[in-house]
Amino acid sequence: MGLLASATTPFLPQDFATLVNPMWSRELRARVVSVTPEAAGAATLVLKPGRWSGHLAGQYVGIGVEIGGVLHWRTYSLTDPERVSITVKALGLVSSHLAQLRAGDVVRLRPAEGEFTWSDRGPALFLTAGSGITPAMGMLRAFRGQVPDVTHVHVAPSRTEVIFGPELRALGHRFVEWHDDTDGTLTLDRLDDLVPDWRHRETWACGPAGLLAAIENHWGTKDLAHKLRVERFTPPTVGGGSEGTVTFARSGAQQHSSATLLDTGESAGVLMPSGCRMGICYGCVIPLLSGQVRDVRTGDVHGEPGDLVQTCISTPAGDCSLDV
Ligand code: FES
Repeated sequence: MGLLASATTPFLPQDFATLVNPMWSRELRARVVSVTPEAAGAATLVLKPGRWSGHLAGQYVGIGVEIGGVLHWRTYSLTDPERVSITVKALGLVSSHLAQLRAGDVVRLRPAEGEFTWSDRGPALFLTAGSGITPAMGMLRAFRGQVPDVTHVHVAPSRTEVIFGPELRALGHRFVEWHDDTDGTLTLDRLDDLVPDWRHRETWACGPAGLLAAIENHWGTKDLAHKLRVERFTPPTVGGGSEGTVTFARSGAQQHSSATLLDTGESAGVLMPSGCRMGICYGCVIPLLSGQVRDVRTGDVHGEPGDLVQTCISTPAGDCSLDV
């Protein structure tokens, strides 16, 4: 430890530097460069990280923001292969907060992660809906002027609500738009008409949970599951729900809920640790004090006092209490 560090113990020089410039924090942070409105109430934020180890098109990042004194984390797909750029729909606490940020504001950032990438660049089918367009947009932009062998079916409520609509229509790949208001609900038996060679293409799918479940089932019944990659924004769930009264012992809050323990805590105003909200990062674990919980991905009910519970993928299975 150098002289300056010794003189400032127990703080490190970086801790004081952060007071001067938040970008010098040991924790990854990024400054908002621009916020650009997109269709359907979405906005694109370009961020400039203090340091960055790079990313691949199709990956996602964790973004942390403080709202009302509570630090919230969410994950967002990167929509540009070269810049740290995310596109958020102004829905929900964190996305709405991000959509109204301004150039110069600072957010926390986690390194890029994710396997939803396209490395071999062979014939592909992108099947996206709503904001599920975001990781596909990152991959399509990676072509920079070349026309890839991609057929892209995108579902949106209407033509005007297609996020990145003008850019997608100008890319030159085969872009099939499906608008719920004029075309009705897309069912996968239409795929043979829309994309006659879909069985021969590697497929990347991203969209609402119900559509992704139908896609997985469709590819599975045709023995094509090995050609399908799916990106989810929420964990897959099985079976019916469960509920109970959740007691947050340290904060004294209590709420009856069938939602995840993480959502329940946040809506009760409890400072809940969180990360990916997908059951991947273990950034949300909290000790269980009593009762049991249900894993929404498997339906398993489990829990002994002292167990660390992943609150983002667990719902109460009857009354339970958490050490938070
Ligand atoms: S927030 Fe990542 S595992 Fe729960």
